[in-house]
Amino acid sequence: MKIPIDRQAPKPIYLQIRDRLSRLIKLGTFKAGDRLPSIRTLAKTIQVNKLTVIEAYSILEADGLIHARPGAGYFINPLSIISQQTKSNFAPIQEVVIPDNSNISFMEIYQLSVQVKSKPGAIDFSSGFPISSGLKNLQRHARRAMKQVTETLFNYDFPQGQETLRQQTAKMLIQLGLEISANDLIITNGSKQGLSLVMNHYLQPGDWIVTESPTYYGTLDIIENIGAKIIGIPMQSSGMNLELLEQYLKSHRPKLIYTVSTLQNPTGITTTLQHRQQLLALAEQYECLILEDNAYEGLNFAPVPPPIKSLDCSDRVIYTGTFSKTLMPGLRVGYLVATGKHYHPLLKQKLFHDLHVSTVSQAIVSEYLASGQYRHHLNHLQASNLSSRNAMLQALENYFPDEATWTIPNGGLFLWVQLPPEISLVSLAHQAWSENVFVYPGMPFFPGQKGYNALRLNFSHPPETIDRGIKVLGKLLKQHSILFG
Ligand SMILES: Cc1ncc(COP(=O)(O)O)c(C=O)c1O
Repeated sequence: MKIPIDRQAPKPIYLQIRDRLSRLIKLGTFKAGDRLPSIRTLAKTIQVNKLTVIEAYSILEADGLIHARPGAGYFINPLSIISQQTKSNFAPIQEVVIPDNSNISFMEIYQLSVQVKSKPGAIDFSSGFPISSGLKNLQRHARRAMKQVTETLFNYDFPQGQETLRQQTAKMLIQLGLEISANDLIITNGSKQGLSLVMNHYLQPGDWIVTESPTYYGTLDIIENIGAKIIGIPMQSSGMNLELLEQYLKSHRPKLIYTVSTLQNPTGITTTLQHRQQLLALAEQYECLILEDNAYEGLNFAPVPPPIKSLDCSDRVIYTGTFSKTLMPGLRVGYLVATGKHYHPLLKQKLFHDLHVSTVSQAIVSEYLASGQYRHHLNHLQASNLSSRNAMLQALENYFPDEATWTIPNGGLFLWVQLPPEISLVSLAHQAWSENVFVYPGMPFFPGQKGYNALRLNFSHPPETIDRGIKVLGKLLKQHSILFG
């Protein structure tokens, strides 16, 4: 394959390769499933360094255009998942954040989002809730589950959770590439509890911990409560900046790296296999644990690389997952994968905190998994989320000002919009709310609330609702741009 390269151009060569391939994919010159030339072949043909090609492929992967199959190469994703509007020139300029105090009020944001959910007619783009549909037979499963556990409800249960549920969950995780058994699992009250158990066990006040910046504010809240100190490493379009990470691993010797490697909250970014390998190698080199949070597992539109935990041969990675985003947050069923020496201390933490997860909730999830409908349910969710994501991309393209840029996630529930600094998101949110559209300024996602102007938008709504809501936001943003721009 020939790719014309202009070595004098200000645009870096890896971006020239990315742009060319991206155009060819969108034009349909490459079809879904086609294999791209190997890194070595392309580097040789166009006479560039292999690293340059790796860089270009990594960005194409982060853009959702291609995916890697370990050992086989890079392949084109189905066109249906590739948006026609590919304005993902998301490239925020951001520094490492080391906040004194984050001052986020998780309580306030959380209560507000639950409140908004119950307001009829409101369009809520701010929350982390999945769309409430698709669980037709839940009542039947719940009745079956109740029958099975009625006797045991008079007893306390084991802290690690029910064996059948652990076995079913382990089977799912083995399919993702994890080498584990049911005995490595602890069922938790949502993954939020898993995060809390791990952080409370491994962090002392004053310890350093690395997070992505921006990241899930529920985790920032846990860290702040412990009194540990955060190093917020900027998220780029391909994930946490690894060069900066290495500098801070060297200088601050953090105990833990917290990462949402797939469909990150709030950006929706999925890191590449290579990024995962490098992150793990750095954690090994600087003897630091990784806490991998895979809360959005199962919501990807196209294949994603295996979790970092699947690459881990030395118990360096602890992994959390949840059924909140794929089934129902109200069930409060999540899980921790803690292999080797991590298992018993974390099981003790679980026992200490609340003995065990509700027997009824565990039985309902287990019944659902046993019914064989989970896979089908995920397919349904993915298809519905994909059309919602595309509707949101289209609406952003139609109504948002030109200065806005956004990520194009390969699944999950959110995309992340970067906006010009002069726009006041607080007053925008107030005005939007008076028109029944709820958004929350993105600052709480940054450690210490130190970041750029951004909004996390939940796209799991019907397309016509998205169009209506984004139109309102676009109109208000354009008024703000005129006022302050
Ligand atoms: C990245 C991430 N981790 C964990 C959670 C907690 O989810 P749950 O406790 O419902 O499993 C969330 C919820 O929004 C999240 O976005």
